[in-house]
Amino acid sequence: MKLKSGILFASLCFFCSFFIACQKNEELIPTTNTTDNQSSSEIPTTGVNNATVSTETIALGKALFWDPILSGKRDVSCATCHHPANGYADNLDLSIGVNAVGLGRNRHFLSPNTFAFVKRNAQTILNTAFNGMDANGNVNPATAPMFWDSRVRSLETQSIEPIKTLEEMRGNAYSEAVAIDSVVARLKRIPQYQQLFQSAFGNAQSITAANMGIAIASFERTLVANNSRVDRYNAGERSALTAQEINGMNAFQTVGCASCHSGNMFSDFQLHVLSVPDNTKNAQSDAGANNTYAFRTPSLRNLRVTAPYMHSGVFQTLNDVVGFYNRIAGGNSQNRNVTGRQIDPRIRNLRIGNNQAAIVAFINALSDDNFDKTVPTSVPSRLSVGGNIR
Ligand code: HEC
Ligand code: HEC
Repeated sequence: MKLKSGILFASLCFFCSFFIACQKNEELIPTTNTTDNQSSSEIPTTGVNNATVSTETIALGKALFWDPILSGKRDVSCATCHHPANGYADNLDLSIGVNAVGLGRNRHFLSPNTFAFVKRNAQTILNTAFNGMDANGNVNPATAPMFWDSRVRSLETQSIEPIKTLEEMRGNAYSEAVAIDSVVARLKRIPQYQQLFQSAFGNAQSITAANMGIAIASFERTLVANNSRVDRYNAGERSALTAQEINGMNAFQTVGCASCHSGNMFSDFQLHVLSVPDNTKNAQSDAGANNTYAFRTPSLRNLRVTAPYMHSGVFQTLNDVVGFYNRIAGGNSQNRNVTGRQIDPRIRNLRIGNNQAAIVAFINALSDDNFDKTVPTSVPSRLSVGGNIR
């Protein structure tokens, strides 16, 4: 085991302790950099040399996450749309990236404006370390699905994407082809980043896009919120849930929600066709994964702080979401591009009946407010922390 894996082990045990015993992790921590042939039960560090995941990569990742230097006009950071005040999402139906000001529900385009909304609702970063978790609680970080349509795999790979995207961070400052190189060149000129990359990766040549991805992903893996009242109840604290929430928990199983929202993250991480309505702010219908109108089952943790819901952000409340399920359970598609027969057969078996309020109460009890809400006081570029979000 290399020097830094002690820290790694300690921190990952902390992250995973709720549902994977530390002892189990101990056996599974790879001692070498193995990107191939990974056992699916490894802790979330893959795609990465274990030795490079450390308190130093986490610190660098946090700086990058909050620094608008990653955006074309130096005014949008990852935290602009994934802010702790908004559950690491943005509380908008569709995200607003470039040419805009404000945070969360107050964010709006500047005028004049020619940029479109980001075409989907911002997902929370909380618990993304566990994306792809299987029924046994195992995660393969290298293949972890990212985005509503699972089009990207692994946090490391995902973290580069928004930098290239026109409406999210790039704007018109440079072309997509040179976006990453332009950002890397900027970082190389900033003394504090030279130091941070040096201490995270060991040498002065280490300011690369790949290491940027590793660092951001390391930080994201610290954003865990999985000790909700439901978890405490299941761990034996019988007073943690109300009678209604317990009824909701049972109904969630018997009604059939758990056939897709399964496992410790309340997601099978598979793609399903539901017929969620499009957002009318988008010029075109969002056809989802491979134009099939399938979207990935989201985790149901922490939804109390991440409204609105679904890939299109069209539902403001959990009640609206369950009302939607009531309609589609009868085979009534809610999206004109999806036929009733295309809707996942599991949906047609849902019988929500009079359990709606209890199910909503249960989902609310799946929130854990005890996550890292710290905002750095400054970022290495000396730009505004988090971007143009005041
Ligand atoms: C302008 C708003 C915006 C900015 C800036 C932004 N994101 Fe996102 N993020 C989104 C949206 C919207 C989605 C969902 C997109 C989709 O599914 O196509 C998303 C999805 C993600 C996901 C996937 C979560 C999951 O469960 O699949 C991760 C991880 C993520 N963003 C991290 C980042 C990082 C890291 C940065 C900075 C490099 C960043 N985001 C910048 C809006 C934003
Ligand atoms: C066939 C699989 C399946 C079943 C069964 C299912 N869901 Fe979902 N659920 C999904 C998918 C897929 C999405 C995302 C759809 C989208 O955005 O287009 C989703 C989204 C959600 C969301 C929004 C989460 C967010 O972050 O926006 C909630 C809440 C939810 N489901 C609750 C339920 C409840 C309650 C039930 C039972 C009444 C249920 N689901 C049954 C697959 C399923």
